Amino acid sequence: MSVKILAIESSCDETSAAVCCDGLILSNTVASQAIHQRYGGVVPELASRAHVQNIIPVVTAALSEAGCRLSNMSAIAFTHSPGLIGALLVGAQFAKSLSMTNGIPLIAVDHMRAHIIANLIDEPKPAFPFLCLTVSGGHTQIVICRDPWEFEIIGETLDDAAGEAFDKTAKLLGLPYPGGPLIDRYAKLGDPNRFSFPEPRLPGLDFSFSGLKTAIMYFLQKRGNREDFIETYLYDICASVQSRIVTILMHKLEKAAKETGIKDICLGGGVSANSGLRRAFNLLGEKNNWNTFIPSFQYCTDNAGMIAKSAYYKFLRHDFSPINVVPSARVNLQLNKV
Ligand code: KG4
Ligand code: ZN
Repeated sequence: MSVKILAIESSCDETSAAVCCDGLILSNTVASQAIHQRYGGVVPELASRAHVQNIIPVVTAALSEAGCRLSNMSAIAFTHSPGLIGALLVGAQFAKSLSMTNGIPLIAVDHMRAHIIANLIDEPKPAFPFLCLTVSGGHTQIVICRDPWEFEIIGETLDDAAGEAFDKTAKLLGLPYPGGPLIDRYAKLGDPNRFSFPEPRLPGLDFSFSGLKTAIMYFLQKRGNREDFIETYLYDICASVQSRIVTILMHKLEKAAKETGIKDICLGGGVSANSGLRRAFNLLGEKNNWNTFIPSFQYCTDNAGMIAKSAYYKFLRHDFSPINVVPSARVNLQLNKV
């Protein structure tokens, strides 16, 4: 009999549901929350309320697009951690209710691990062990993935995440949230060598982005008429900042690949949608003879497809969760303990 899983993702500002059958994604529905744009960032309480409004239509659409009925599901999966606690609770409670009322097993999934597993959704797939640079709005990690159940973090950010560096730069430039995609668009029109921003001298494989943010803040403060300066040089500033974020990421990834000797290398997380990062990653791969992998766009940013795929691997090991499992806002450092 086939294994069918309904998965729900609600860790931040996207409400998403997906159905997978024997590990193949049949549907992946996402409702984005535009409400946060006017506040310049995600407002946790508004995110929770929007999840409550979106969750039934999104789950219904995912089931119907997949041509499946709830009663035929082998498991219900949900994002357990990390994320905004109020947002996680909406998805977790909904998944638990479906599980209890239909007598279907429950599977709790770690969001960061799912961003890595997203590389196993489409062909071609990396061979184990592979390295993944996971870059999202809240996290930046270099992880060795030994098999679908075994992960080891070998580098991570000590302060801001790469996505935060994009979003906070955008805020300083007066651009709306989320700034990452806009900086990407404007960077294509600018000169990445026009301005120079610092790269932190941090030993090992860890990252730091808070110094870059401060450098950009002072750089803008020093200009006499800030608004005029930004208007004149917006594209060049975006290109220069993006180029620096990308080189910081690529230098550490290259170091990690050299130290581990691993040749199958992946990207994951929302920032892997960035065109400059994708280009630099593929070029670095060619230079070093890596086999490079990037999930398709729909599986880069937050989505339930990656939660469904992760849950499928947990299902194969009968790794179910008790009905009283409580979601957690915090990062699960071991990644594979959920
Ligand atoms: O993985 P994700 O969707 O959510 C989290 O788990 O945090 O990542 C969201 C982050 C945001 O910071 C957003 O600005 C960034 O991904 N992002 C981008 C691009 N698309 C999304 N950053 C740079 N360029 C992009 N094209
Ligand atoms: Zn994410």
